[in-house]
Amino acid sequence: MSQKRLVIAIDGPAASGKSTTAKLVAERLGFVHVDTGAMYRAITLKVLQKKIGPQDTERIARLVESTQIALRRESGTMRVFLDGKDVTDEIRSIEVTRAVSAVSSLRAVRQAMVREQRRMGEAVSVVAEGRDIGTVVFPSADLKFFVIAGIEARAKRRQGDLLHQGVETNLTEIERAIEERDALDSSREESPLRKAADAIELDTSDMTIEAQVDFVVEHVRRMQKKHEAS
Ligand code: DC
Repeated sequence: MSQKRLVIAIDGPAASGKSTTAKLVAERLGFVHVDTGAMYRAITLKVLQKKIGPQDTERIARLVESTQIALRRESGTMRVFLDGKDVTDEIRSIEVTRAVSAVSSLRAVRQAMVREQRRMGEAVSVVAEGRDIGTVVFPSADLKFFVIAGIEARAKRRQGDLLHQGVETNLTEIERAIEERDALDSSREESPLRKAADAIELDTSDMTIEAQVDFVVEHVRRMQKKHEAS
């Protein structure tokens, strides 16, 4: 019997553990991983490349309409393409991270991205992660999770990621940058970061990645069983 197509929404602030969780959950379940943050990062990269200021909303709106962003699995990993070019690593740069909150707060950018994200969730089962998945992109998602973690745990994770890229940073600086981005993402007018009323909260501060993944997968399996029984 074929299984019902499911949409799993995972939202949460920066470095909360949602991306790693979403990626591994999607792998375990054989769902498509939709990393919406990567899409906002890709358009931000293009804005920076074109040297457009974040306040130049009209030019950015035109730019978005002529831009193609794609998420594709290649040799087992999810790659991000901007107008056909692989930008998976470039979109994680400090410059993009610094500018992404401003670019992603623009209505024209959000409208185009949300349209594309909904299209991705139309045909297959997805694990979509971001800031507004359970509230705006897929308000009727089958399951919603809101992932949080203490600032110290999040800063340590981000420091590890950056070290992996060969960038050494101090923890206090990272904490400040994360808190700044949280404040921007939560206070903007357009689709701010918010926990959906029906989201399940998951605090990953003291959890291993395996435990986080198990937690979400368990919920999905239970839902699949319920669907099978009905
Ligand atoms: O998850 P991330 O750190 O890669 O996301 C990068 C930025 O993109 C984040 O600071 C806010 C924005 N974003 C958003 O506004 N809405 C989403 N659904 C996902 C990300």
